[in-house]
Amino acid sequence: MSDALSDGLPRPSVERLAADLRALEAFTRPDRPYTRRAFSDEDRAARQWLTGRMAEAGLTPAVDAAGNQIGRRAGRAPGPALVIGSHLDTVEAGGRFDGIAGVLAGLEVARVLDAAGHRLAHAFEVINFTCEEPSDFGLSTIGSRAMSGKLDAATAARLRDRQGRSLADAVDSVGGRGSALDSARRPPGGVLRYLELHIEQAVSLDRARVPVGVVTAIAAPSRYRVAVRGRQDHAGGTPMADRRDAVAAAAELVLLVERLARETGRGMVGTVGFIEARPNMINIIPGEVDLLVDFRGIDPAAIAETLGGFERGAAEIATRRGLAIEWTSLMRDLPLTVPLEMVALAEASARAVDIPHRRLTSGASHDANHMAALCPIGLVFIPCRDGRSHCPEEWADVEHLAMGARVLLELLLRLDRDLA
Ligand code: GLV
Ligand code: MN
Ligand code: MN
Repeated sequence: MSDALSDGLPRPSVERLAADLRALEAFTRPDRPYTRRAFSDEDRAARQWLTGRMAEAGLTPAVDAAGNQIGRRAGRAPGPALVIGSHLDTVEAGGRFDGIAGVLAGLEVARVLDAAGHRLAHAFEVINFTCEEPSDFGLSTIGSRAMSGKLDAATAARLRDRQGRSLADAVDSVGGRGSALDSARRPPGGVLRYLELHIEQAVSLDRARVPVGVVTAIAAPSRYRVAVRGRQDHAGGTPMADRRDAVAAAAELVLLVERLARETGRGMVGTVGFIEARPNMINIIPGEVDLLVDFRGIDPAAIAETLGGFERGAAEIATRRGLAIEWTSLMRDLPLTVPLEMVALAEASARAVDIPHRRLTSGASHDANHMAALCPIGLVFIPCRDGRSHCPEEWADVEHLAMGARVLLELLLRLDRDLA
């Protein structure tokens, strides 16, 4: 006999979730599916859509100073909320599921509770965090960073994009209040538990044909902006020995990133995802290159080793080639071990609703990384086809999303019952 607390409630609906996914995929830049960058018109349109769905689900919608969209359902008693969150913003030409699956799972849980008239002991919130993906301000996970006290109003006023707009202004453009960003902060314990569902963004669940993953550890990004400054010269007249070619130096840097991640091992990965050369003309030796470098890992010692190797290697390339390489650390987030009791509770929830599951780790980072500063977190994955993500081909089956939402619902009910 099943011991599921959710047995008396309706099941998360595949049809409703499928309709939500279809509605959200329309909020894209038409020329570049599926692009809904944070702070864009498409982001604002998707937020407006979500406000309506939150209200229909019996949630009271609000926006905090960081622009986080919060739908709240009161509990029987006052006090901190149980939260399910993720994000609706996407990367350039990204997918239809990264982040979106988690917000929709939270929304569907709210709809199930509302349809059944089931009142929780604790308040319940569904959150669409502001700008989880990289922004033009050098930061990602902006909403969860602000909520967990890692981003303040002074920093938001200082950080600028290339057009000179401040992050604070961008936050204002989605209904937040950048100048009062600190008021989005919640104290440790100000959230009771944080839960997130996400597509795996790797191939293990899809390959094993397992619909749900219970995450035990989450990698964190360390990112650099790197400026290579050589000397612009004539491509015909300048002998090879006299060049200070910024692109040739950047090429060495790219291979350094790849080699360091491979050689360090222990799950380290390294990527140069952005590169811009100037003046970028066939008969000119490039004088300037800007790069963005992203290292990820779960093992703090391996991360430290890789970053040390990168900084030493970059200095060596600069000296040997007689040019300048300057790097600025943009982010150095901390990897996270998910509390064992949250892992066990997620597993017990999946078992109770009879959904096959397995443990795994996350190579991608999530708003959960920051929410962990406030309370114990739980992260549940569903498969994505061939492990592909951050690309237009990204795909997850809506049936898996509904199964993941069922696990979240059961997990939420168990937390609500067990926590004081
Ligand atoms: C978020 O998508 C990340 O970069 O891990
Ligand atoms: Mn992403
Ligand atoms: Mn994501």
